[in-house]
Amino acid sequence: MIKTLRSVISLRKFDPNTRRRRLAKCGDIDDVRLLAKRQLPGGVFDYFDGAAETEWSMANNSAAFANVRLQPRVLVDVSNVNTACSVLGQSLPYPYAFSPTGFTRIATSAGELAVAKVAARHGVPYTLSTLGTRSIEEVAKVSSGPLWYQLYVWKDRGLSRELVQRAKAAGYKAIMVTVDTAVFGRRDRDVRRGFTLPPKIGLETFIDGIRHPRWTLDFITHEPITFSAVAGRGDVDGSTAITLSDYVNSQFDASLSWRDLDWVRSESGLPIMLKGIQTATDARTAVSEGVEAIALSNHGGRQFDGSPAPIELLPEVMDAVGNGIEVLIDGGVRRGSDVVKAVALGARAVMFGRPYLYGLGAAGELGVEWVIDYFNAGIRRTMALVGATDLAALRSNGALVERG
Ligand code: GLV
Repeated sequence: MIKTLRSVISLRKFDPNTRRRRLAKCGDIDDVRLLAKRQLPGGVFDYFDGAAETEWSMANNSAAFANVRLQPRVLVDVSNVNTACSVLGQSLPYPYAFSPTGFTRIATSAGELAVAKVAARHGVPYTLSTLGTRSIEEVAKVSSGPLWYQLYVWKDRGLSRELVQRAKAAGYKAIMVTVDTAVFGRRDRDVRRGFTLPPKIGLETFIDGIRHPRWTLDFITHEPITFSAVAGRGDVDGSTAITLSDYVNSQFDASLSWRDLDWVRSESGLPIMLKGIQTATDARTAVSEGVEAIALSNHGGRQFDGSPAPIELLPEVMDAVGNGIEVLIDGGVRRGSDVVKAVALGARAVMFGRPYLYGLGAAGELGVEWVIDYFNAGIRRTMALVGATDLAALRSNGALVERG
């Protein structure tokens, strides 16, 4: 009996690193999300996790992936699977990039620098947001990987000009213009909490802070969070608490239109990706305007609640634009098989934001590493299971995809 017991009992080696120990128990992004929820004050978690109004679009973004099925081909030699692709002339090891996320330093003080560093280690493009809390130059300094800059066009065109020129000078390789934010979406969770950026310390926030001592200590022992792109400009740098909705609606240009794209291009001299395309008609216009890439996106469901899931829209857009433009999708991507499904339907690559924010909130750099490892392994595994040796094989074999 002792012999039998000994053969089945094998104690796992104890890992003294609490964060690594917790991550080791995570099976998927939902688990990492729950871990982040435990680490972060409610208002901070809800700002990242929440979406517009009923949050239907956010939920549908993920759910819609279940309606795409891949039919596995068998007896294909998949001992070597090539996951490489190219986006805007840059080679990527896997067909995904990190979406821009505002105010990343409220998850942890390391914020954008932590995410950019980990992304660079893995060759994943990192997109710095106009609403970032580290500057264009600070991020460039820690990253030797591909960097893209996300632009909200300011009413003050001089400021927009300065930002895209700084991005170019710092080595960023593309300008991603977000086009779904003419005005700010209503995020009911933030409204209920009276959430401001940076967070205002009221009684509720204070109690929340006590319940999350690690986050609070980190927050109060690091320099104040501001919009780093415009640091030092007291009128717009976020040094006084403001709701994001008031900020965006007062600072960004609601009159932005197709006519302005040439201006963005001539100021930056960089390729342009439009993020937030939600119809085949607009995708066609992007082609005729000579834009290099589009990302089908509803801003993770954070802008217009009721917009289609990017993965639902993708086939129609591919029919409309063919190879005339690089098409990416962003929204609801939660596992490697989601990435593979999007590529099989014609996307060049995908982007995601919340998964890495959950990783960052749950365990800092280690959490972001976990997310990348999880996606990379999931992409390789899915390709092997469906019998695709490279991304072109996914696209060339129409029999692989079935839509429900
Ligand atoms: C910023 O872009 C946000 O969605 O909060």
